[in-house]
Amino acid sequence: MISQNIKKQIVEQTNIVEVVGEVVKLTKKGSSYFGLCPFHNDKHPSMSVSEKVKMFNCFSCNTKGNVIYFVSRYNNISEDQATIILAKRLGIEISDASSKEALKEERLLKVMNDATNFYEFYLHNTEEGVKAKAYLTSRGITDEIIKDLRIGLASSESNLLNQALKKNNHSELDQVELGLVKIDNKDQAYDVFRNRIIFPIENNNGQVVGFSGRIYTKSDQAKYINSSESAIFHKGQILYNFHKATPTIRSNDKIIIFEGFMDVIAAKKAQIPYGVATMGTALTQEHVKNILSLTKNIVLCFDGDSAGIHAMKRSAFVFANYHIIPKAIVLPNNLDPDEYLKAYGSQALNNYFSQNEKNVYQWLYDLAKKDFIKGDLESVERFKKEVFECVRCSKENTIIEHFIKMLASDIEISFESLMNDFGKIANFQPTLKPDDLPKNRVTTPKEVRIKRKIFIAYDVLLKHMVYSKLKFIEFMDKMGDELYIDSSLTTYFEIIKKMEVFYAENELMDEQDFLNIAKSLDLPNKTNDYYVFAKRILDNKMINLNDSDEFEQCLNTIQKCWSDLSKTRLYNKALSSGNIEDIQKFESLRKENVKVMSKEEK
Ligand code: CTP
Ligand code: MN
Repeated sequence: MISQNIKKQIVEQTNIVEVVGEVVKLTKKGSSYFGLCPFHNDKHPSMSVSEKVKMFNCFSCNTKGNVIYFVSRYNNISEDQATIILAKRLGIEISDASSKEALKEERLLKVMNDATNFYEFYLHNTEEGVKAKAYLTSRGITDEIIKDLRIGLASSESNLLNQALKKNNHSELDQVELGLVKIDNKDQAYDVFRNRIIFPIENNNGQVVGFSGRIYTKSDQAKYINSSESAIFHKGQILYNFHKATPTIRSNDKIIIFEGFMDVIAAKKAQIPYGVATMGTALTQEHVKNILSLTKNIVLCFDGDSAGIHAMKRSAFVFANYHIIPKAIVLPNNLDPDEYLKAYGSQALNNYFSQNEKNVYQWLYDLAKKDFIKGDLESVERFKKEVFECVRCSKENTIIEHFIKMLASDIEISFESLMNDFGKIANFQPTLKPDDLPKNRVTTPKEVRIKRKIFIAYDVLLKHMVYSKLKFIEFMDKMGDELYIDSSLTTYFEIIKKMEVFYAENELMDEQDFLNIAKSLDLPNKTNDYYVFAKRILDNKMINLNDSDEFEQCLNTIQKCWSDLSKTRLYNKALSSGNIEDIQKFESLRKENVKVMSKEEK
């Protein structure tokens, strides 16, 4: 945190009229300046800016504050970041821990920008690029879109990016930190993104902080892989296209939240520029806070499959914390916006969007009602349970009462007895997360400690996947290739391969199926390693299958651990190289990393 004292200095020395004047046209009236307020849909200039009191003030929407507040609100960045930007204008050095962190951030952003340039260059100037462009064209992605979104290409070779970044004097540690490069167990650096189309992901300030890579040739690897979490990339805080869409979200006073990149692109083509994407992860409080700083009119547009419906419920739940009731749009026949556009054209997509918004609870209610058969007790119970689950999330008594009344009339049961049932259903129990498990002793070598953490997380994932095909699919999507990396994961790998075969033919798995899979991997008459392994996972009582956060969290834990593991290996490599300069450089970078990390962990 930058001290208040420094902030005060910056405010005093900055000419607020000049700063605001750079983005808002100001006209002088008396001792103040007036302009259109950028924080609401302003028709007549209602914002005044005064250099004398160092404040801006909108008489219409009541937004007011000093220059730091203005810059942070306007650019959607933290006040600290705004302070640093303003300090730079004044040529002031902020000699604080925060400035060190900012320096590191700046350096990492530079790496990402160079990487983006490299990927763009590779797409436009190579033979592989010709093929990739043909793919993009076949998906309706024009040169204009490619340029606008800075879409690029990662080569199929093992470490071209690594080489290029090294040539630009970017340390390997930074490359690892950013999840661009990993170190294999022969200490060789290799590019994480290979043979993939690259979508750069920007933070709220328009800077590239992460990448997502999509396969474009026939491949059995995950369709998309994403940058792992880093000091500058937090997937749970970033929405794809948020920065670019900010002005139109403001001016339309509306946002549409999609699942994927291609949906955002399709919406753009259908004259809907205020779309953003969660990139397949669950919506978080951080996402919601960012969104609500721009608009309260939220539309959720997820796929109509079970994963999409699940995402819809979860998102409604997160917004409920802020007493916001989003709208829902689901396209017919399980199409995603990109597929709908391809089938019916951009005008049809635009029309569909303007005509089919529905209150999300109503949408979920109607969905639950679809399977309801009058008089069939089982289906009554299922219907009831579904509705209870959804409206419970809303936290609003009005919603609860409204839909339970509707339910009462649909299933012909009295409202009072339904409310009685509603009160009785217990909440889920709190659970232990892998990170809460007893910390390992400090004496264990670092690499072993990280690996143990990975194993614990894999145990959790595996147990969840026994009971849920959906989670299995999610896992394969996100983690599929991780399993190849390290030979110590062989046991998991073998079991998961067999599970994949099983799930290809079956919708449900039970404990016995899982044990049978394990048994089939054991050598006849010799050991029962796999069986014991599988049994241990099933018997682990600390894993709570009702807790979807636990699953998501373990996916993230593993990604973070892999990057830590690579860093540790890199460190050991530097130490054993014997080159003093290398070691010193590495040590200073490493110290800096440790500092930032321990700060985050607080
Ligand atoms: N996603 C991911 N990892 C995967 C699959 C998906 O991170 N293995 C994210 C991507 O951000 C993707 C979004 O989830 O855009 C939605 O996934 P999906 O609907 O499967 O992809 P589409 O957006 O339809 O992409 P495409 O049309 O290219 O298949
Ligand atoms: Mn698609």
